[in-house]
Amino acid sequence: MLNIKKIRRDFPILKRKIYGHPLVYFDNAATTQKPQKVIDTINKFYIYSNSNIHRGAHYMSDEATISYEKVRASVKSFINSKHLEEIIFTKGTTDSINLVASSFGRLIISEGDEIIITIMEHHSNIVPWQMICEEKKAKLLTIPINDKGGMLFDEFEKLLSIKTKFIAITHVSNTLGTINPIKKIINKAHLFNVPVLIDGAQAVAHTKIDVQDLDCDFYVFSAHKMYASTGVGILYGKEKWLNEMPPYQGGGSMIKSVNINKSIYSELPHKFEAGTPNIAGIMSIDPAILYMEDVGLHEIEDYEHQLLEYATQEIMKIKGVSIIGIMDDKTSILSFIVDGKHPSDIGIILDKLGVAVRTGHHCTEPLMRCLNISGTVRASFAFYNTFQEVDIFINAVKLAIKMLN
Ligand code: ALA
Repeated sequence: MLNIKKIRRDFPILKRKIYGHPLVYFDNAATTQKPQKVIDTINKFYIYSNSNIHRGAHYMSDEATISYEKVRASVKSFINSKHLEEIIFTKGTTDSINLVASSFGRLIISEGDEIIITIMEHHSNIVPWQMICEEKKAKLLTIPINDKGGMLFDEFEKLLSIKTKFIAITHVSNTLGTINPIKKIINKAHLFNVPVLIDGAQAVAHTKIDVQDLDCDFYVFSAHKMYASTGVGILYGKEKWLNEMPPYQGGGSMIKSVNINKSIYSELPHKFEAGTPNIAGIMSIDPAILYMEDVGLHEIEDYEHQLLEYATQEIMKIKGVSIIGIMDDKTSILSFIVDGKHPSDIGIILDKLGVAVRTGHHCTEPLMRCLNISGTVRASFAFYNTFQEVDIFINAVKLAIKMLN
């Protein structure tokens, strides 16, 4: 049993009122709220030890470098990577995918090759691959889904061939909540010697990740969706690939020496960390991981699943509501549409009642076209949400429908 009352006290923003109503924050798939310890870490850095890392000749710079590198070790243990050098800090999931597409994609993709994704990918796991396909005259193939929002594994098997050079798949769909069978996909892909990137943006805060057990080649995610700062992401890559890959960006920190005609690059992980990073943001990952581990990833998963089940059961009682994404294997994302009502109209009314959701295509336009809808209303839960908040949300949806009728 989670002590939700205590947990909620740790997240100061949850006390806010919106238009006079207590905030019901159900937009956790867009970004999660931050516990006090995460906020304190960011504040403390700027108040007490702000300095640049890896380049200072003074005490505070050394101190900042040690704290920064300690976060790399925390992330290594959080996702159980084999080597510390396999953890690269980026600006976010999008940046991590662009890094892999630009560097690894350019290295391995040639004319006539094929890259496989699913139709449920976020734009950030579509557009970078389209760009590389365009440049290299390669083809982007998509795995279709069934009526419940689950990817069709047999269709994936049909797409795999000697032309397949790369696979990029989301662990959890940000729109449907579907958990994809990534281990099965990775095993199958490796039989064809095809490397696989997993977009874990919607997974890391909801389930335990073990990259060695998954045997994925790349796993990418964002700090802000796991209770830490915005503007920070992680790229995990197998050491053998990262060593082969050319740098994505050039600049300070990523070089051993620079001659005006030629530069010698740093070793991993610095080869991929050009320029001054978001130091305070990266430091905020450490307390966020500690917080999640303290609550317990299994406990979080279990509790969020109960919230999802309850919200699903209650929303299904409302006439005219259809849930989009009804696979058994789901994380805490509830997307729905209402007959004859525009998702954004519902979202506006929910907002006026203090309920924060996301509406629209959720950066998954190809999925929307495939489902023949323009958008959904999406409620996404975190472990600080409560069953009472689900009740408020359900009543708000009922009121919104009544007002729009
Ligand atoms: N990718 C985030 C979402 O699904 C922003 O809302």
